Amino acid sequence: MRVALHVNVDHVATLRQARGTRYPDPVEAAFAAERAGADGITVHLREDQRHIQPRDVRVLRETVRGLLNLEMASAESTVALALEVLPQHVTLVPERREERTTEGGLDVVGQRASLGPVIAKLRAAGIKVSLFIAPDDAQIEASKALGAEQVELHTGDYANAVGDARAHELASLARGAAKAHALGLRVAAGHGLTAENVGPIAAIPEVVELNIGHAIVADAVIVGFAPAVRAMRRAIARGRSGR
Ligand code: PXP
Repeated sequence: MRVALHVNVDHVATLRQARGTRYPDPVEAAFAAERAGADGITVHLREDQRHIQPRDVRVLRETVRGLLNLEMASAESTVALALEVLPQHVTLVPERREERTTEGGLDVVGQRASLGPVIAKLRAAGIKVSLFIAPDDAQIEASKALGAEQVELHTGDYANAVGDARAHELASLARGAAKAHALGLRVAAGHGLTAENVGPIAAIPEVVELNIGHAIVADAVIVGFAPAVRAMRRAIARGRSGR
């Protein structure tokens, strides 16, 4: 079975927010990603709105042809936006203001009481709910018990590990994927994946979806740098010659 690629365009918005300009627009990046073969688009609307803005989510819901996956914490305001915009998938993630990125999985076991009603509300609106968790048996079982359709296994520790530690993290992701699948959950994976480390994750048979952002945006900056400089050179030359 083919693994779906959902491209996360958050860091296109990071670049835009750095200057408060209208460009680069994550909506335009989403068009390009889908034209290049992405199966869907993922965005994380953080409570502090440091990159993706509510406007982005609203416009993407209109423009994305494949699946729109909205990552968010279970804060009241983001849940309200999800219920207004109705993306096909919502991925619930933990969120701490001071973190640079999503640093760990959701503690579904510890937060059953607060997550349960949020999951129920989203599902009642026809949204498929995915929970971003570590490949831990108790977290997987709690995700199933709370009615999630999918878990997204956090690959950050795998991505950061080297040598034997990486093999250990990979084995635990493979075990987690098998366990989740056996319980009837759809299995996604993501965080910190690059062209260098994605292979072994894509090889886990139960993994049917990958959410990848930072490495793609980073690569796009480098790959596009020379053409961007050439375009500026041409604009300067046109100005100089008065044409
Ligand atoms: N999946 C989830 C749940 C995430 O929170 C993120 C980061 O926003 C990603 C995937 C993508 O991670 P990266 O940008 O490192 O590819």
